[in-house]
Formats: sequence, C-alpha cells, structure tokens
Amino acid sequence: MEQEIFTTKINNGFSSNADIVEALKFPFGSQEQNALFKHANAIRKKCVGNNVYLRALIEYSNVCQKDCYYCGIRSSNKEYDRYTLPIEEVLKISQKVLDANITSLVIQSGERSSNEFVKNIEEILITIAKTFNNKFRVTLSCGEQTFEVYKRWFKAGCQRYLLRFETSNENLYNKIHPNNNLHSYAHRLKAIKDLRSVGFQVGSGFMIGLPTQTYSDIADDLLFLKKYNIDMVGMGPYIEHQKTPLYDMYGGCEMEELAELAEKFRKKNWSLEKRLNTAINAIAVLRIIMKDINIASTTALSAINSEGRRLGLLAGANVVMPNFTSEQYRENYFLYQNKPKIYTEDALTRINSECKQNNLNIKYNTWGDSNHFLNR
Ligand code: 5AD
Repeated sequence: MEQEIFTTKINNGFSSNADIVEALKFPFGSQEQNALFKHANAIRKKCVGNNVYLRALIEYSNVCQKDCYYCGIRSSNKEYDRYTLPIEEVLKISQKVLDANITSLVIQSGERSSNEFVKNIEEILITIAKTFNNKFRVTLSCGEQTFEVYKRWFKAGCQRYLLRFETSNENLYNKIHPNNNLHSYAHRLKAIKDLRSVGFQVGSGFMIGLPTQTYSDIADDLLFLKKYNIDMVGMGPYIEHQKTPLYDMYGGCEMEELAELAEKFRKKNWSLEKRLNTAINAIAVLRIIMKDINIASTTALSAINSEGRRLGLLAGANVVMPNFTSEQYRENYFLYQNKPKIYTEDALTRINSECKQNNLNIKYNTWGDSNHFLNR
C-alpha cells in the first residue's frame, strides 16, 4: 500500500517541495530509489532517447576575478600557477576532440571581464568555426558578463552557455560568497535571464551538500530550474578544497581532529555518501519534472566514488563531459579536491563501459542540442 502511494507520487511528477524532499532522501539501493530510477529511465527513453552526448571540456584559463569561498581557483588562492591557453593550444585540443568523433566543445574559464578576455574568447569562437568548418557546437562557461558581452559571443557563433546559480537560497548564497558587488545573488540571476534573452541554450545548476544546506533547499533548487525553464543542467556534490575559507569554516566531512569546535561544525556537514546519494536522487527527480532537458552526470560525482558518474547516468542523466585539457595545465585547475586525474583516452574508455553497463548509446559526431530548447 505504501509502495502504491509512493509510486503514484512519482508517476504524477513532483510538484511540491515536500514531495521532492521525500524522494531526495530515498536510501541508496532501496526499493523506493529503484522505483524512482525506473520511472526516470522510462521518461528519459521517451523524451530524449537512450542516448548519451559527449561534451569535450577545455579548461581555458584558471585566472579568476572572483573569490568564491568554496572554489579552489578563487583569486586569493596563491597555490596555483595561473595560466591562459594560447589559441593554438585550443585549436590543437579541438582537433583531438574531432579525432575522437566528438563535435561538442565546452570552453570553461575562471571569470574575467576585461576587454582583452572578452576579445580573446570572441576570437577563439570565430577561429574554431573557421578552422573546423562549423563542425563544432561550442558551449561557453565563462561566468557573469554583461548583456552586451553575451550578445557578442552569441554573434561570434556560440549557442550554449553554462552558468550555475550555485544555490537558490539567497542567505546560503551570501554565506558562501564574499559580500560585494562581484558576488551578488541578484546579478547572478540577472545574468541567467540575460543569457536566455540573447538566445542561448541556457545551462545552469547548483551544488549539493553545502554546509548548512537542507534537503528543502535542494528541492527549491530543482523547482528553480523548472521556473527558469533551464535547457541543460549540471549539478553535483560540493566537495571541500582545503585551501578555501569554506573549508576553514566548516572543515572537511572526514576530518580527523576531534577538537570541540570542529565537531560542532562537522554536524553541519553532509557525509560524502549522503551528498552522492542525494545528487543521484536529484537527477532522477529532475528527469521526471523536466523531461526533455539535457542533464550532465558531473565529474564531482566520480570524485566521491569511482562509480559516481555511472550512477548519475543510471538515474537519468544523458550528458558526460570528458576533460580534454592537456596534463600540463590540468593540475592548476582544481576547483575541489579529489578531482579525478584521468588521461583523456582512459576517461573515454571508462565512459564507454559505463554507458554499456546502463544500456545507453553514446552518440558520436552529434551536437546533441537540448530537446527542451528545440521543443520550445
Ligand atoms: N565543489 C563542487 N563544485 C565546485 N565548483 C566550484 N567549486 C566547487 C567545489 N568545491 C563548481 C561550481 C562552479 C563550477 C564551475 O564548479 O558550481 O559553478
């Protein structure tokens, strides 16, 4: 009987915060979670097909004007050498991507608003289009910019943009960012709206398991994605980075020290298992409430557990983003700890086997635009 009530809830979709919270808490491997994933998979099959799209990630630059309390490449972190890839390097990587039969690129970078940066990105977009005869669909993930800059990049040939809102809880947002104009919640939301009005396929998302974050916050985050009619989603567990203020404030979830203070704060932290399990439940719920969007099984899932990305795919994700940044730069692009250090070739082999295990087909040489965007 209980099972029936619960199945009805899943089948009706999740419209309330309370229903979503219930699903987010389904224990790993439980009957409820299996039913949730089964339903998410049926919807995936019907609305986006049993396909997985690959996006080749290029970490263009780790120079960042922001100072987010959770992020390893925040401007105050002097630990890393700062780099910006020369355009030749971007083209070289792009050729490698094409050779791997992938035609979708994500150019990600620390945020900068200088004219020089804006111009460089514009030039890269134009050169990639020219050099490879428009074979690539390019996605940018270069932070908050003005409407005019977004328009310029759109005109230069970029049609997709990723900008996470990190958390829809404004109080929590203010806790994990410095309190200044560069880190304004209102501006972040405005930027997401600007992207939509320029005409981009808009990607967004948030972190799961931030200190003091609640299940209800996460349910709100999912409803926020729906309210903003987002086309592509990347959401993943928050993972501590030791050289960040958020770590200093709350420590890691597996801290060994038993100091009273650490103990107190530790209670505000989510265990890594809980973050991972909540993240995969969130993917399944999102597939059910926003049927035809693209959902990434993010790298942060694999940072917790080597099976993480496969579990994300099992729950209803349909996008994977193998990292194509060359080894020499990669070690300076650590947003969080435990970021998997896997050679690109090995990563592709692994993705292949994960998809096979889940009966999903990798679509090579396909742009894989968001059906949600196309159906709009
Ligand atoms: N843990 C998980 N994700 C992180 N990001 C940044 N720092 C961390 C962290 N410590 C994510 C943010 C950002 C994206 C590029 O990386 O959500 O938007």
